[in-house]
Amino acid sequence: MKKKWGIVCLICLALAVLWGAFFGKQGQVEQPNIKIGVITYKSNDTFVESIVTAMEQSARQWEQETGIYITMDISSAQESQRTQNSQVERYLSLGYDVLCVNLVDRTDASTVVDLAAGAQVPVIFFNREPVQEDLMRADDVYYVGTRAEETGRAQGELAVEAFLDGRMVDKNQDGVLQYVMLEGEMGHQDAIIRTEESVQVLKESGIATQLLASAVGNWERSQGAALMEQWLNQGLPIELVLSNNDDMALGALDALQKAEMTVPVIGIDGTEEGKEAVQNGTLLATVDCNGQAQGEAIFSLAMALAQEEAVPAQLEIEGDHYLWIPIDKMTGE
Ligand code: GAL
Repeated sequence: MKKKWGIVCLICLALAVLWGAFFGKQGQVEQPNIKIGVITYKSNDTFVESIVTAMEQSARQWEQETGIYITMDISSAQESQRTQNSQVERYLSLGYDVLCVNLVDRTDASTVVDLAAGAQVPVIFFNREPVQEDLMRADDVYYVGTRAEETGRAQGELAVEAFLDGRMVDKNQDGVLQYVMLEGEMGHQDAIIRTEESVQVLKESGIATQLLASAVGNWERSQGAALMEQWLNQGLPIELVLSNNDDMALGALDALQKAEMTVPVIGIDGTEEGKEAVQNGTLLATVDCNGQAQGEAIFSLAMALAQEEAVPAQLEIEGDHYLWIPIDKMTGE
């Protein structure tokens, strides 16, 4: 008798499960859940964080407007391309609709492109620009960022403008502007091209320049401060500090403050702290690379690709793969 009741219970349970599975799906309208996987090259880069924060804000706003939930999962590759490749594989195996990748090694995007193309999942690279051949390996592969050359030239123009209107001077009056250069990172497109272009603009404007020292500070404030402190201790007659980004520029300002000295410093990025420093007059100027606009553009593109919709016209895709974000020059005035 007991056995018979046991079998009846089991049958009822099985029926209930089947009922739930069938009518549960049919009875209620299931909201599509769009899944966006984001992988940054490391976790504590100020400017990259500003882009990702803007993406998250855009997602929350979109959810509020549409009532449709978005899964946006953010991982850090901890500066290892192998780790990043495995994270890509994981997102693909979990059925993510689109991947946004801030490459660790910008010369090594082929594995990410091939994995995603194999799974027919679009990829948006951002901030760390892949080499063109890799971007061209498949159709649904994009890069969103600012043009390195434009940001470098804008920094040079800011220096020229400051020199012409007397905010920056040839202190030792030797007819040459002595400067130091804080470089971002070996092999990074922004570090290489900004370093070249900013000085090129000064030269083109007829200002004679002399490089006193330059070194790689890996985009970090603490490294910018350490390098600047070293140069000040060496007694270098610095008349201008050009920094590939705002964090290192703020580091140089930390060292100057410690030494109770003032030297004009120009950054690039337009981070919150960078902009504040320009407003309160400690940083001479910066190039605003619009992290907010970058994040919003990546999100809009990701949503169009995830839903297999046409890319909105306001996102002007160039050469089928590039979305360039405009920059602004920012001074205290
Ligand atoms: C640059 C930016 C740096 C850093 C770097 C990381 O564009 O100026 O601050 O974020 O990207 O790739």
